[in-house]
Amino acid sequence: MHEHDSVLSVTAPTSGVKGTVQVPGDKSISHRALILAALSEGTSTITGLSRGEDPTSTRGALSRFGVEFVDQPDGAVLVHGGLRHEPVDVLDCGNAGTGIRLLSGVCAGYPGLSVLTGDQYLRRRPMDRVAEPLRLMGARVDARDGGRLAPLVIRGGGLSGITYELPKASAQVKSCLLLAGLSATGPTTVIEPHPTRAHTEEMLLAAGARIEVEGTAVTVHPGPLAPTDHAVPGDPSQAAFWAVAAALAGEIELPNLYLGFGRADFLGILRRMGADVQVEESTGSVRVASAPLRGVEITGADVPGIVDEIPVLAIAAAGAEGTTVISGADELRVKESDRVTSTVAMLNAFGVRAEERPDGMVIHGQGDAAFSPAQVDSAGDHRIAMAAAVAAVARAGGQSTISGWGSVATSYPGFVEDLVEVSGATVNLDP
Ligand code: S3P
Repeated sequence: MHEHDSVLSVTAPTSGVKGTVQVPGDKSISHRALILAALSEGTSTITGLSRGEDPTSTRGALSRFGVEFVDQPDGAVLVHGGLRHEPVDVLDCGNAGTGIRLLSGVCAGYPGLSVLTGDQYLRRRPMDRVAEPLRLMGARVDARDGGRLAPLVIRGGGLSGITYELPKASAQVKSCLLLAGLSATGPTTVIEPHPTRAHTEEMLLAAGARIEVEGTAVTVHPGPLAPTDHAVPGDPSQAAFWAVAAALAGEIELPNLYLGFGRADFLGILRRMGADVQVEESTGSVRVASAPLRGVEITGADVPGIVDEIPVLAIAAAGAEGTTVISGADELRVKESDRVTSTVAMLNAFGVRAEERPDGMVIHGQGDAAFSPAQVDSAGDHRIAMAAAVAAVARAGGQSTISGWGSVATSYPGFVEDLVEVSGATVNLDP
């Protein structure tokens, strides 16, 4: 596993961005397509799968259960599903929080022993949020640091359905429990404080599971899944990087995106800031063009819908007139990095005034004024690295460097090629 320590230098012309970007397949949907296909007896086909390292780790983990994945010449993946045996080795989830949390639910449902771990960043992220409810369902779950951190050791099987109120809104925890619930006796209900992305319940329904949704409560009934063909749309969280670059300087077309519940809210925030955003719902196409931006207030109710886009929205806020205040975002502290700290450090590196708050940040937008060229440390976090690249091409003259660039491969391996294509930037990657 690489240590995510390569350095990207970016020297941008001042002409902004222009063009069309087809972003990679959605990462959240890719994890779920792989897992649901693996859980159903028979053959499923996945098209448009993300080739990022995170879903690839999930695919590797599922193959430890005897699931077979066959790459087709046209890029589709055939999945011969059915968990055949307990995993023959440790499940290495790499950098993927979604991978380890969703797979924990799968492991809890499977009668056997599983050990789940990941890279140095994932091993710092809280796992008690899944371990505790899985124990309530009857799984035996041990974890490092008094049950808080990976590696996780799960002895699954013999689960009972529960009703569980999530202390914090989390699609990952909801999904973990719904997946475990497929093999419990009796229904499992998960109640969220705020609604989050609904991929798992939507895709379970499509795979023949009995799912009921009532307000913020989702119930799954135990039962088998049917093989299903999954067409993975473009990832809106990756499109957000180009949307912000265009909102600050230029114009970008983003075709074939997933624009369903809980994933496209960043477009509303950009509109509130004053950006020119056009959406074609029927095709999932979005066009963003620059306009003078103004600061906005982002509160806890907004956060679940933009939880992954805040680092790059912070770049838009930095190039806006006035102050942006983000509150109710303490969950950002337990993402791939502490994204309150790493986002503010990135802004400061570009010469933008911004301060941390315990649950968010304050960003003093500098309007049209250019950012200073920066030396940014991604803190091993792909979204910080890509947000910094956007700042470099949209507003900073001169040369910026971004260390820890290797993290970008977890979600968007072709990012640099797209960056060069739309911005004309000169880049150098120092491995
Ligand atoms: C994800 C849910 C979010 C998000 C993550 C992907 C998912 O995490 O940050 O990148 O695919 O379910 P939480 O649900 O834990 O906030």
